[in-house]
Amino acid sequence: MTAIEVRDLTVRFGDFTAVDRVSFSVSRGEVFGFLGANGAGKTTAIRTLCGLLTPTEGSVSVAGLGFEDGGAAIKSRVGYMSQRFTLYNDLSVAENLAFAAGLRRMGSTALKKRASELLGFIGFDRGLDTLVRDLAGGLKQELALAASLLHDPEIVFLDEPTSGVSPASRERFWNLIARLTDSGKTVLVTTHYMDEAEHCGRIGLMAAGRLIALDTPERLKSSVFPGPMVEIDPGAVDPRAVAGLAAEPGVVSFQPHGQRFHLNAVDEAAWTALERRLPPGANARRIRPSLEDVFIRLVEEAGR
Ligand SMILES: Nc1ncnc2c1ncn2[C@@H]1O[C@H](COP(=O)(O)OP(=O)(O)OP(=O)(O)O)[C@@H](O)[C@H]1O
Ligand SMILES: [Mg+2]
Repeated sequence: MTAIEVRDLTVRFGDFTAVDRVSFSVSRGEVFGFLGANGAGKTTAIRTLCGLLTPTEGSVSVAGLGFEDGGAAIKSRVGYMSQRFTLYNDLSVAENLAFAAGLRRMGSTALKKRASELLGFIGFDRGLDTLVRDLAGGLKQELALAASLLHDPEIVFLDEPTSGVSPASRERFWNLIARLTDSGKTVLVTTHYMDEAEHCGRIGLMAAGRLIALDTPERLKSSVFPGPMVEIDPGAVDPRAVAGLAAEPGVVSFQPHGQRFHLNAVDEAAWTALERRLPPGANARRIRPSLEDVFIRLVEEAGR
């Protein structure tokens, strides 16, 4: 079952094209990740899929709904946690939930029932009269998630929900995402954290408004780097001597990673030959390519 279907979506602001002929579909129950550098067009695409911006061109179907009514029906059926913090620091937890429910025209009985379910879902154990400003960053984000779920939407858009929160809180948040999709909800999420992207069923990589890759994390890795991937630690050797390998035949990519380098060879035979040219004292070990390796490579290719 398809939750989101996007065909040649283009969004322009005046002469500027923020989203450029993007096509993809997301199945019900999927965690779909949007990745890309700042300004790539992720938020613009999400705001369009939430019914907040009108497509300039192309077609969009979200929960089976289109833009015939200007996005109103879509807006009422999806949950959206925006990139900017959406709760009010000066209001209490209860007041924030009541405010969010008011925007959805929810009655007080429905609010009470839903709020207690959702606070249970996020494991909230503070008082309802706690001011949001007094909550830790991770807890605020969990509460913002709960607020976006009040009307029980089947599709939830989360725009950088874990930006700036602690690693432990990020893990907690991703557990909540997994539980949402287990219960049949569809989640489209953006993140700049590559470890989080690994949790997505599929990833769409955006660069300058275009969707330049779309696949599962594993398939992206094996298609972008079919040959062996090696991490080279120069140790006491002059790193410039190691960097000389970049120009050797059989090298698909060569990227600095901190003090080390990641080298991808075209195949095993090429790596065997390259290994012999490694300066004595430098160490090489086989690694699995990371999503970061994949994205650096894809963005580099797209920029050519
Ligand atoms: N309302 C607007 N008017 C004009 N330009 C806009 C508007 N909204 C966004 N843009 C531009 O569109 C481009 C894409 O922005 P967008 O916010 O979608 O990127 P993003 O991928 O979400 O980036 P980030 O990772 O920083 O959140 C940027 O160059 C931005 O300046
Ligand atoms: Mg954004």
